[in-house]
Amino acid sequence: MDDLKAKYLDAIGVAPDENALEELRVQAVGKKGEISLRMRELGKMTPEERQTAGPALNALKDEINSALAAKKAALSDAALDERLKTEWLDVTLPARDRRLGTVHPVSQVWEECTAIFADMGFAVSEGPQVEDAWYNFDALNIPGHHPARAEMDTFYMHRAEGDDRPPHVLRTHTSPVQIRAMQAQGAPIRTISPGRVYRADYDQTHTPMFHQVEGLAIDRDISMANLKWVLEEFFTAYFGRTVKTRFRASHFPFTEPSAEVDIQCSWEGGTVKVGEGDDWLEVLGSGMVHPKVLSAAGVDPAEWQGFAFGMGIDRIAMLKYGIPDLRAFFDSDLRWLRHYGFSALQVPTIRGGV
Ligand code: PHE
Repeated sequence: MDDLKAKYLDAIGVAPDENALEELRVQAVGKKGEISLRMRELGKMTPEERQTAGPALNALKDEINSALAAKKAALSDAALDERLKTEWLDVTLPARDRRLGTVHPVSQVWEECTAIFADMGFAVSEGPQVEDAWYNFDALNIPGHHPARAEMDTFYMHRAEGDDRPPHVLRTHTSPVQIRAMQAQGAPIRTISPGRVYRADYDQTHTPMFHQVEGLAIDRDISMANLKWVLEEFFTAYFGRTVKTRFRASHFPFTEPSAEVDIQCSWEGGTVKVGEGDDWLEVLGSGMVHPKVLSAAGVDPAEWQGFAFGMGIDRIAMLKYGIPDLRAFFDSDLRWLRHYGFSALQVPTIRGGV
């Protein structure tokens, strides 16, 4: 019995894996295992012999079973230790640097304008960038022979060979959205139209694509005084300080009277500062919507009147954020975008300070 015990406990002690353990289990305590066979022989013994052999065999069987279980646990612990040695992860390592993109100054200022005008009751309208010449010119009182049409450096979208209809244009301003908005909603109306516009022009202050925000307010008794108030209110909110405006008589075919609007600035120290000094900077064109324009859009000029303006978004972005060169806006240079861009979490609101 002692030999049997030593034989199996030693073998279990050095078993290299679970398969070897299972073999030992079958050999020792399986149905036809050595211990089981001995137990079957108990019947042939005398009662005295059985009294000592029976409990001894049972104890041996228990001992072997618990040695098997202990070895099995030890083997799986060792296997786990082995895995932990190779499959580790240092959770204290700093995270890999993930650069966030930035909001382009044009998008930021576009949103700022929308927030400020929304606070004054202006909704947002949009129109196509590839525009029908009728909306871009004719409906705005710029007939085919008008010099303004030639002066605008228009990009034309040529028709297919044999198609004699007049070509579409890349809209040269956001004013055609005035027509589309009035056709869609009629009067009264208060709306702004931010968007891309195109002119064949390229130097430090002009790019062939740039951005404008159109403003339109039509009602029964709207005057130039309302226009002046709205614009001064806008500039004060936008620049965060009182900004004087100067209205200069001008001419646009689609407004009468027309005015170009300058804002107060200083050039001291070589950089422009808005809201101080006694220089002026032109930022928009405006006026009372021409009766012919109202008629073209299906609004009765005998009943309705109002103002319109068109402002350069890129221009006022440069002024507020001190960006010197317009061309860099559209170069997509990552260094420029990271320097002048905004966090996506800085959402412009009137209350947060645009
Ligand atoms: N559309 C004009 C421009 O692009 C600006 C403007 C808009 C003037 C509305 C008057 C009224 O220069």
